[in-house]
Amino acid sequence: MLISFEGTEGCGKSTLIRHLLKKFDAHKIAAISTREPGGSPVAEKIREIILNDEMDSLTELFLYESARAEHFEKVIAPALKAKKIILCDRFTDSTIAYQGFARGLKLSVIETLNKLATEGRSPELTFFLDLPVEEGLARATDPNKFEKAGIEFQKKVRKGFLYSIRKNKKRWRVIKVKNRSPEEIADEVFAIIIQKTKLKKKARKK
Ligand code: TYD
Repeated sequence: MLISFEGTEGCGKSTLIRHLLKKFDAHKIAAISTREPGGSPVAEKIREIILNDEMDSLTELFLYESARAEHFEKVIAPALKAKKIILCDRFTDSTIAYQGFARGLKLSVIETLNKLATEGRSPELTFFLDLPVEEGLARATDPNKFEKAGIEFQKKVRKGFLYSIRKNKKRWRVIKVKNRSPEEIADEVFAIIIQKTKLKKKARKK
């Protein structure tokens, strides 16, 4: 099962994923964590370029999608085959939000490239960690170029996520993270994932 985690900057995805992995481990459920851009050796190299250099928006889009194609082929597809739970820190919805809504590239082009890079596979579940953009930006200690782009940019990113959520309510779960401890958030998200896994098993048996 492929599960992605999305949100604006500083919403706590990485911490949540770390907590979840420990829980899966404790329950002896096979799970891996990975991230985009990156997650495989070549994709991590592409990540270095994307996050450190300024570039044309279209160039940036292609780099994200190249990294994704490589990551999907080398890491996600094999893990899906091995029936593992994959916790992915950002995925295709980030491209809609950042390159589409914030950079202004055409959504239909991004959707086509997303499909190509992932062999048409979308996550079974996507968590949106909902935190006011001002608070998230204030948490950033070593800001990347998107964090440096400021509040207006992040507001557009947020709009992009809300658009995707409206389009596919069944896949998304919105998790409010303001004033909550990482442990509390991890408990809630873990319970949702376990319930979804059980539903899937039941459906397979029928
Ligand atoms: P990262 O430092 O991992 O940020 P975060 O902790 O917020 O995830 O850097 C990833 C950056 O790349 C993040 O600012 C979002 C951006 N991004 C895109 O613009 N498009 C994409 O398709 C993806 C996957 C990420």
